[in-house]
Amino acid sequence: MANGPISVQVAWLPKTSRIIQQLWVIPREELSSVQKLKKILISPPEISYSDIQYILNYIQPENFFDFRHNHQFESKIAGIVGMPYVLSAQSGTAALHLALKVLGVKTGDTVLCQSMTFVASANPILYERANPVFIDSEPETLNMDPELLEKAIQELFKKGIKPAAIIYVHTFGTPGNADEVMRIGRQYGIPIIEDAAEALGSYYDNTPAGNFGDISVFSFNINKIISTGGGGALCSKNKKYVEKARFLANQAKEQRQHYEHCELGYNYQLNPFAAILGKAQLPKLKHRAEKKRELHRFYFDLFKNLKNIKLIGESHKSRSNFWVNAVIFENYDTYNSMVSLFEAFGVEVKPLWKPMHMQPLYKSYMHYLNGVSENAYRLGLFLPSGSSMTKAQRDQIEYIIKKL
Ligand SMILES: Cc1ncc(COP(=O)(O)O)c(C=O)c1O
Repeated sequence: MANGPISVQVAWLPKTSRIIQQLWVIPREELSSVQKLKKILISPPEISYSDIQYILNYIQPENFFDFRHNHQFESKIAGIVGMPYVLSAQSGTAALHLALKVLGVKTGDTVLCQSMTFVASANPILYERANPVFIDSEPETLNMDPELLEKAIQELFKKGIKPAAIIYVHTFGTPGNADEVMRIGRQYGIPIIEDAAEALGSYYDNTPAGNFGDISVFSFNINKIISTGGGGALCSKNKKYVEKARFLANQAKEQRQHYEHCELGYNYQLNPFAAILGKAQLPKLKHRAEKKRELHRFYFDLFKNLKNIKLIGESHKSRSNFWVNAVIFENYDTYNSMVSLFEAFGVEVKPLWKPMHMQPLYKSYMHYLNGVSENAYRLGLFLPSGSSMTKAQRDQIEYIIKKL
């Protein structure tokens, strides 16, 4: 048995999966040679030695509370995104919450939100006791489907409901049909919150992602292309929005000698030390986005002749940072094979996001569907997408995919 072939149990695959049998033909030696490599993660943290060196220059007590680091970080983000006003925040989720507050979203309001997203896009709607209405995706980039969005708005208008905001996500870092979503927002007078959490360094029609919405939001979580360990940003061309967000993020402290509070505030400011890490990381953005694009091309070449697997790409006007790559399978056999092989060879594997309208927390809210997000969830997988992926790791992935 010690030298026998390997069987892999993948808890979330059906027990009858054919691949369990198929794996019995993979010799143990073949697996152990590749298993010597480190586990290949979908979106590994990328904090480098030079970042640590940079931080070390600032290890003095005063830097732990010097918000000038935040302001410097903010002006660098403003330069990249082309938004003049920026607030650095404790997380992308906090920035989204502030965006809703600044736009005046309140109890009972309706907010339109993409269904195919990470839950953080939707949760701030419930923080404000507003009602989300979920919109399905278009198939090319899995961004919000503008046709469904317009249909939802028209039906809501007929019922006398004017949505308070649209939360539009650049899925996996790729802007979809931003022109059309912006046109709809303008036409119906609904402000747009651009959830660009994953899209720093991406472009749409040669304009940076995060430059379109009334307010845009980024995440610097540990798995993002640029990380502050945990952090976010809120950006706008409207100075008043960002000033209000800054006020709310600092416990809504009035400008008085004593502690005076007339409004409910939050502790949502970014810690200055995190801002220092952000300053160290931002100059690497272009290089990382290029490496991720190169990795996308690698996957494109690997999958181009496999008819039953579709790699999610860009729209004709977008240039993605390819924060994360994703594939959708035509059938469960190949899907199960890929999951089992990845598990066996030490490659992290996860289904694409379960859409919000299918989540126990959100399924009772109104939704406009076309089947795209459900299909992507049921038959889609994230692929390892770190910009620091080594040649040996790529070879390992290529080897696995060629077994399919
Ligand atoms: C689309 C999307 N929106 C919002 C967030 C929330 O960002 P954070 O984790 O910084 O709170 C994330 C990521 O984590 C995200 O992927």
